Amino acid sequence: MSATLFTCRHTFEATLCVELARLGVTRTEILLPGLVLAPESARDLDPVYALQVLPAAHLIRGASIREISLAVQEVALPVLQAGEGPWDVHAIVPGMLKGTPKPPMARRAGLIAEAMLADLRKDQRAVWRRRQEQGSDTCALVQLLLLDNEAAWVSAAPVRALPPLAAWPCRVPAGLAVVADDDGAPASSYRKLLEAITCMGMQPLPGQQAVDLGASPGGWTHVLRRAGVHVTAVDRAPLAPHLMRDPQVRFVTGDAFAWRPEAQVDWLVSDIIAFPERVAELLQAWCGGQLARHMIVQMKFRGEPDWLALQAALDVARTCGYAARAKHFFNDKNEVTLMLTMVPHG
Ligand SMILES: C[S@@+](CC[C@H](N)C(=O)[O-])C[C@H]1O[C@@H](n2cnc3c(N)ncnc32)[C@H](O)[C@@H]1O
Repeated sequence: MSATLFTCRHTFEATLCVELARLGVTRTEILLPGLVLAPESARDLDPVYALQVLPAAHLIRGASIREISLAVQEVALPVLQAGEGPWDVHAIVPGMLKGTPKPPMARRAGLIAEAMLADLRKDQRAVWRRRQEQGSDTCALVQLLLLDNEAAWVSAAPVRALPPLAAWPCRVPAGLAVVADDDGAPASSYRKLLEAITCMGMQPLPGQQAVDLGASPGGWTHVLRRAGVHVTAVDRAPLAPHLMRDPQVRFVTGDAFAWRPEAQVDWLVSDIIAFPERVAELLQAWCGGQLARHMIVQMKFRGEPDWLALQAALDVARTCGYAARAKHFFNDKNEVTLMLTMVPHG
C-alpha cells in the first residue's frame, strides 16, 4: 500500500491538514515536524501549504545501507524504466525539514542514494543514460526520506510540469530552495523572495524593469538590484541608504496601492502589510491592466489563513489571463506568496 507525503514549513503541519481537509482529504496524520501523511488519492493535489509532494510513497526497511538501497531500487526501477526523460534522486532527512544546517543521517541518506546510483550505472544502462544532466528538466523523481537507520519512505513518480509555473513534485529536495546568506541585505525578508523566484523557475534578468510595492527597508529591492534589475520602490518609509543612493533605484514616497506604472514592467513584487482582501483589489488593477508580466505578491494573515481571500485573488489573476499559484515557503511567516505570470496567447 502506498501513501502520499507532503512536506511543509515545520509548525504549519496543522494548517496543511486543514487545507487538505478543505480539498476533501480528511485522513491525514502529522508524522514529523514538517511532514504530513495523506492517502494515495491525494497525490495530484498541489496544496498551498505543501512545499513538496512524495507521491506513491512506500515505507521500506533494511538492516544496512545495501539493503535499504536495494529496497529503494525495487520501488524506483519500474518508474525509471517506464519514463523517457531525465530523472533525479533526492535524499532527504527529517532535520532538513526543520532547516537544520547539518542534519543527522544526511550522510547515511546520501550513501544509500549513491549505492543505488552505482547499481543503476552498472546494471541499468538505458536508465542510467537518462540520469539528469546539469540544466535539464527532471521528468521523474526518486525521493528517499530516511526516518532512522533502518526505515525510509521512498517515492518514485513522474514530475508534472505546471507550465509556465514550475513543476510538481518540486525539483529541489523537500521543496526547500537553497538560499545563500546575504549580509548586505537590509532585511531577512530577501529569503522569501529568493524562494519564490526559485519556485517559479524564472530569473529576473539584467536590464529588466521591476516595481517593488511596500519596499522598505529594501530586502526585495536589494535582491532585484543584485540581479541587475532597475527598480521603482514604493513605500511611505525610505529604503536602506545604499539603495536610496543607487541610481538604478527610483524611490517613490506614497500609497503603494494607488501607484501604477506608465508602461508595462517585467516584474511586480509586493510585500505590503495589509488586509488579505486588498490583494485581490491590487491584482485586479495590475492584472486587469496587464501592468506587469510576472508578479510575486504576499498575502498576510492575522490568525488563520483567509482561504476565501486567497481564492479570490487567484481567481482574479486567472480571469485576467495569468497563470497563478500560491505557496507557503519555508521563510514565509503567517503569509503566503502568490506567483503569477502572463500566459502567452495562441
Ligand atoms: C513587510 S514590510 C516590507 C519589507 C520589504 N519587502 C523588505 O524586504 O525589506 C511592509 C512595508 O509595507 C509598507 N506599507 C504598508 N502599507 C503601505 C501603503 N499603503 N503604501 C506604501 N507602503 C505601505 C510599510 O511601510 C512597510 O515598509
